[in-house]
Amino acid sequence: ARKIIIDTDPGQDDAVAILLALASPSEIEVLGITAVAGNVPLPLTSKNARIICELAGRTDVKVYSGCDAPLQRKLVTAEHVHGKTGLDGPDLPDPVMPLQEQHAVDFIIETLRNEPAGSVTLCPLGPLTNIAAALQRAPDIAPRIQEIVLMGGAYFEVGNITPTAEFNIYVDPEAAKIVFGAGVPLVVMPLDVTHKALVTKPRNDAFRALGTPVGHAVAEMTDFFERFDKEKYGSAGAPLHDPCVTAYLLRPELFTGRRINVEIETHGDFTLGMTVADWWRVSGRAPNAIFMGDIDADGFFEVLTERLGRL
Ligand code: BDR
Ligand code: CA
Repeated sequence: ARKIIIDTDPGQDDAVAILLALASPSEIEVLGITAVAGNVPLPLTSKNARIICELAGRTDVKVYSGCDAPLQRKLVTAEHVHGKTGLDGPDLPDPVMPLQEQHAVDFIIETLRNEPAGSVTLCPLGPLTNIAAALQRAPDIAPRIQEIVLMGGAYFEVGNITPTAEFNIYVDPEAAKIVFGAGVPLVVMPLDVTHKALVTKPRNDAFRALGTPVGHAVAEMTDFFERFDKEKYGSAGAPLHDPCVTAYLLRPELFTGRRINVEIETHGDFTLGMTVADWWRVSGRAPNAIFMGDIDADGFFEVLTERLGRL
């Protein structure tokens, strides 16, 4: 199984991404889950990550708390999307499993140093603060990372928090700049992909029809989340952004993209946090990421629903 660390700010879609990974132990080994401030403040993301592990029956998973604010900026949150708790929708009990004492950034560094080089993949699903802090503090870990598969950015689909920026990158653009410049193999799931992974009514019904606590909770979470996107964008359902990352580990062939140069805007008056993706390869700058552009959405929901049914 591929060893991963999930870095996350749950978030309903983060929760589904975590559930998909935990449902797939023969392909994915979750070494730990590191929480970061993003959709909601750190105490809530640290709590929500544990709520989801308990929902999956996996109280053995180690959950670490990380950075409570971006590297240089004030935290911007997204309660308008995810609700006050970050996990609004289902009624899930408070977690009893403990939070690990070690700081998430130390856990990331220690794990990459202790595991064989090239054997650990990082899966960031929120602002890139923890990952950038680890790379800054311990540059020796960069060549030891197998790959970073992250949800963030947008190109043709522009932005969701500003006209040009996607939330995860916008919240901590300096961190994103460090990650995109680290020379680590990068796979990026931008809004261009995730806005095609929509939970339509039949797909939501299929979660509910699993007839399990997990199926029920995922249906309730995507119902809540869906409300926002329908009202705001008139889209057909909730975009399952973050599960695209864990689905990629299971079924890379569901996604298509291009190996291109992607730079992060950290100064623009109107474009702060924009992922400047050289899709047409006009800049002459060296490629640093596989930037995905499309997804087989039916294939994605098929594997997701089937896996959730295993929990
Ligand atoms: C990203 O921002 C968050 O609201 C979601 O969890 C996802 O990671 C989408 O822009
Ligand atoms: Ca997220």
